[in-house]
Amino acid sequence: MIVIVGGGICGLAIGWRLAAAGRQVTIIERGEAGRAATWAAAGMLAPHVEAEHGEEALLPLALESRAMWGEFAGDLKRATGVDVDYRTEGTLVVALDRDDRERLEHRHQYLRSLGLDIEWLTGYQARDREPHLARAVTGAMMSPLDQSVDNRLVAGALRRAFTAAGGILRENTEVLSVVTRAGRASGVALADGEIAAEAVVIAAGAWSRNIGGLPDELRPPVRPLKGQMMSLRMAEGAPLISHVVWGPDIYLVPRGDGRLILGATVEEMGFDTTLTAGGMYDLLRHGWETLPGIYDLPVVETWAGLRPASRDDAPILGPTAMAGLVMATGHHRNGILLAPVTAKYVGHYLLTGEVMEPMKPFLLSRFAAVTERPVPLPAAVGEAP
Ligand code: GLY
Repeated sequence: MIVIVGGGICGLAIGWRLAAAGRQVTIIERGEAGRAATWAAAGMLAPHVEAEHGEEALLPLALESRAMWGEFAGDLKRATGVDVDYRTEGTLVVALDRDDRERLEHRHQYLRSLGLDIEWLTGYQARDREPHLARAVTGAMMSPLDQSVDNRLVAGALRRAFTAAGGILRENTEVLSVVTRAGRASGVALADGEIAAEAVVIAAGAWSRNIGGLPDELRPPVRPLKGQMMSLRMAEGAPLISHVVWGPDIYLVPRGDGRLILGATVEEMGFDTTLTAGGMYDLLRHGWETLPGIYDLPVVETWAGLRPASRDDAPILGPTAMAGLVMATGHHRNGILLAPVTAKYVGHYLLTGEVMEPMKPFLLSRFAAVTERPVPLPAAVGEAP
């Protein structure tokens, strides 16, 4: 038996892969499967426009996962009949004034220096592709390969695929602790007893650090990073946009069902998910500045979610110093994007015991390596540096 703690997109995707390979798998979920960060996300599959300075090590993994999404969505459709609204129109990032434009040009050069396929557009060309963009748009980057998916449909489909493949899903069930025997993870303790397991996978997102029974050095350094979001309803048959659009401090993601998702704030607020007037105001203000036509749209929903941010913003994957204890957490802004590749490499490890090369930079042990590195002493005054 393999126990996965956490029924978000990564836990479900790993569980599906293992169950489909004939393994016995139980997912323990403290709430409802797919209803935490997976539910809150916007579903962007955008490693190009979300690439950050200093996160270059993540890019190959993110690109691999994005390339897997078409097939992953197709597999889900074949397994469950659910179309997860995988959209391939691409992503536009727009600048609204001279400062934005300079920043965006700089960013364009950086992304091009990484060899990414990003085209520069004038404001006119951008409005040609998205006629409802603000007149103020002075320039834009077009990323044809950055896509989107309806993460909520994915969660529902994965849940069905997992249970149809024989996986056991226990919802509204808290893991009290990981059970360890003779120095290895041997199961989990629940309120109604223990489940013995040959491996325990921590895929509990922002809650991963707080699971009982783990020694301090094996607690993944993951914290919640709040995002407030809202969705609007576009006119039927006349969507305001068809690409994902990023403006300054805002992204807007169209769905096939007519919703337009506006996201997201980034707030260090612990586990608080309160919606605030300021958060909603910022989304609407930035959204309206980029796409003025949102002014008349009905509000469908408002919500907040918790990104599981690791200390270096990259995911934590694979085996740990404790035999049987495996990580699949810390996906930060990229949980939906990275789900297929997470299932591939963590699943491969659980099935074969092999850590494949692309997963190696993301092991939990990288944080131990950082703290153990000797701190260089400052050069004495007057000494050559
Ligand atoms: N990836 C989008 C977000 O984290 O808001």
